[in-house]
This record gives sequence, structure tokens and C-alpha cells, in this order.
Amino acid sequence: MHGNNTSMKPPWTPESWKKYEAQQQPKYDNPAELAEVISRMTTLPPLVTAWEVDRLRTQLELAEQGHAFVLQGGDCSESFDDCNSTSILRKLKVLIQMSLVLICGSKTKIVRIGRIAGQYAKPRSADVEKRGDVELPSYRGDIVNQAGFSPAERRPDPQLMLRAYEKSALTLNYIRALSEGGFADLHHPENWDLEFVRNTPGSRRYQQLLESLSDSIRFMEAVSAGELTQLSRVDFFTSHEGLLLGFEQALTRLERNRGWYNLGTHMAWIGDRTRALDGAHVEYFRGIRNPIGLKVGNSMEPQQLVELIRILNPENERGRLTLIHRFGAERIRERLPRLIEAVLSANLHVLWSCDPMHGNTQTARNGIKTRSFDDIMSEIFTAFRIHGELKSRLSGIHLELTGEDVTECTGGPGNLTEADLAKDYRSQVDPRLNYEQAMEIAFLIAEQMR
Ligand code: PEP
Ligand code: CO
Repeated sequence: MHGNNTSMKPPWTPESWKKYEAQQQPKYDNPAELAEVISRMTTLPPLVTAWEVDRLRTQLELAEQGHAFVLQGGDCSESFDDCNSTSILRKLKVLIQMSLVLICGSKTKIVRIGRIAGQYAKPRSADVEKRGDVELPSYRGDIVNQAGFSPAERRPDPQLMLRAYEKSALTLNYIRALSEGGFADLHHPENWDLEFVRNTPGSRRYQQLLESLSDSIRFMEAVSAGELTQLSRVDFFTSHEGLLLGFEQALTRLERNRGWYNLGTHMAWIGDRTRALDGAHVEYFRGIRNPIGLKVGNSMEPQQLVELIRILNPENERGRLTLIHRFGAERIRERLPRLIEAVLSANLHVLWSCDPMHGNTQTARNGIKTRSFDDIMSEIFTAFRIHGELKSRLSGIHLELTGEDVTECTGGPGNLTEADLAKDYRSQVDPRLNYEQAMEIAFLIAEQMR
């Protein structure tokens, strides 16, 4: 047991966060409508079950101890328009394909977690956006308002929370169908072909991997004289940033004898901008039983991290808390070691994961927000090295990626330049790795782990 930070706080309820300052919340102009939407949502069925949530926790516990590795990834922000079959299928496909590559490299189980089925709310650096003389509320994700620049589109609309709940449910329903059989069945390697990928060393290695996988499956089935039914489905979990607290609260449910769960997603994380020790987000997160994440950026100091961990994981349970660090390739050497040392010397159980995206955002010469593949790889390799040097363990990776052939990050196997970015840049928020870049990252990490 640890210090009694938690017991000093008044009792937790799904809405006790309201007594604390909540960063990054939209200003709704009709509180009665907001309250009505939240109360309606409270009666809607949950999207996931507490059993699934607990199963993920068990898997994260294994990962924390080195028996599995976590692959978490997806859009910076999902959009309602992308709630369609092709887009969902491609997101699932790239994550499963990456996980196959990682399994071959690490020879351990890969825990797949999408930034999906609820990743609709975004923190912004400014509350308002100005274009010429016109000033409007910033776009905060499809769950809050719309990206178009007109007063009607930028008005925070509580009804969008219901739309987000529905889109999450539609997305999750399709993911469940795909991952339960048919599509995710490893007996059908034709589902696993690479799309859009040039004939690169990476794609040839992938082809070989698929062939040897099929051989192994046939071999195992010959030996065991039957179909390996476990191979016909994959585990896939959902996650999102728990930013919009009214929404999260409405999906928080009491499970008899087990406590409160956020049943809108399997895992939720606290963003780097909303992790104030005495803030509303930390208050909300401390009370739910889900595995939770905490983004750790350049302003985090060791003592503050230790205090946050004690509030968020007072029983020091394994699998409960994932620290997702995101410093940038330039700064990780300076920032990470002190934090690892503080966690080790306080004997705190956490799972370390590296987000090599959010510390590496830059503006290209043509004004477009981008990230370079080399910076991303460099932060990942440095993270593995630092954890190794300090006898800590990097157990996961957190990426912004898409299964589409977009042009948002520079570099990678296709060697995208800044001039290429305009060709097919679709993100309203942060630049994502495209399909080919994401697969290449999986190969490079797999080699590193081998
Ligand atoms: C994100 O993950 O999209 C994000 C906003 O990250 P961070 O909180 O680390 O800035
Ligand atoms: Co982002």
C-alpha cells in the first residue's frame, strides 16, 4: 500500500470530477440540453463488457512482465464520415498485419488495441480559431462540433455525443464480426495480402512470413489431426482518450461486486494536457476499474509522475496503468531516464509504452503539419535502448496510423517528401503513418526485438 493521497480525497462517484477544474471541455450554450443528452446516454446499453475489460487487464499484466507486447494504434481522431466498411476494415487489417510481423520478431503474444470506436474528442492548444476577422470556437473532434469554419458548424452540440456513441457501436459491431471469424481467420492468408505496397524488401519479407505462417499452421494441424480453432479469431481491444468527461461519465456503470467500469471502451487514457494532479480528469480516472493510460510529455517531472501514479494506482496493481511517453526524438534522452529511475526507486508497477508521434510533430515549409519517419523510428529505438540500459522494460508502442495510402508523414519506404504531402493529406488533426509506413515500422521493431 502507498501513501494515502486517495483517501484524502472525498468519495469518488462517476460525477465527482465536476468538483475539480476540467481542462479542454467545450462550452455548451444549452446546459439543459447537455444534461438531457447525458442522462439519455446513461440508459443506453454499454459498448463493451466488464469481462472483456478484465481480460485486457490480464493481458497488460503479462505485457508488463515481459510476456507480451502491446500494439496500440489508430487515427489521431476518428471522423464520423470514416465510419464505413472499407475504412474500418483497413484499420483493423493494418493492425492485425503489424501484429503478425511483431509476433514473428518478438516470439511473444501481441496485445492489439485500436485507437478506435470512440476516439472522437481532441484537445486543442487554443479555445478559438481566427481566420481573418472571424473568430470561432476551435474544432474539438466530431463528438463536439464540426471541422467546417462557420458559426453553426463550430457550435458545440451535445447531440453529437449521441452520434459518437452510435458510430462507436457501429464500428465495434463490425470489428467484432471481423475478428470473430472469416476475415481474421489465419487459415485464409488471401485476406492478409498487402495493399498499395510497392515491391520493397519489407513487402517481400512479409510475403515470406505469410508463407511460413501457412506452412506452420498446416504442420501443426497435421500433427494435432484437427483444425486449430484458436487461429480462426483474434483478440482486438478498443481505446480512446477519455477527454470529454460528461460522455465518459454517462458510460460508466457499476458492476455488482466488481466496482465501476467505463463500458464505453476497454481502455482509456489521460492526455498530456489534462493530467493535472488536482484536475477533473485524474479524479475521474482514479475511480474506474479499466486499465488506463497516462500520456507523459516533456513537462512531466519525476516527483509529479510518482504522485500521479499513486493516485491512479493506489494498490500498485500490475496491468492497471500504462505510461505512454512522448518526448520527441530530440528530447527523449534528456527526459526519460529520470522518470524511469523515479518509478523504479519507488517500486511502482507500470507498463511503459512509447508514443513516437506526439513529440515529433513539425510544420513543413509549405505550412502542413507533418512528422518524419526517421524521427519516429529514432524515438522508438532510443526508447528501447534507454529502458534496456536502466533495466526497465519497454512493453508497448502507441502509434497514429491508418490503413490507407495517405500522404501525411514524410519518409519511409516510399520516401515521401514535403512536396508529396499535398497529394492525399486527409487528417483534420495530426498526421498519421500510412499503410506502408506502418508496416515498415512493424518490421523495424520486429528486427529490433529479435
Ligand atoms: C493524442 O494522442 O492524440 C494526443 C493528443 O496526445 P497527447 O495527449 O500526448 O498530446
Ligand atoms: Co494526435
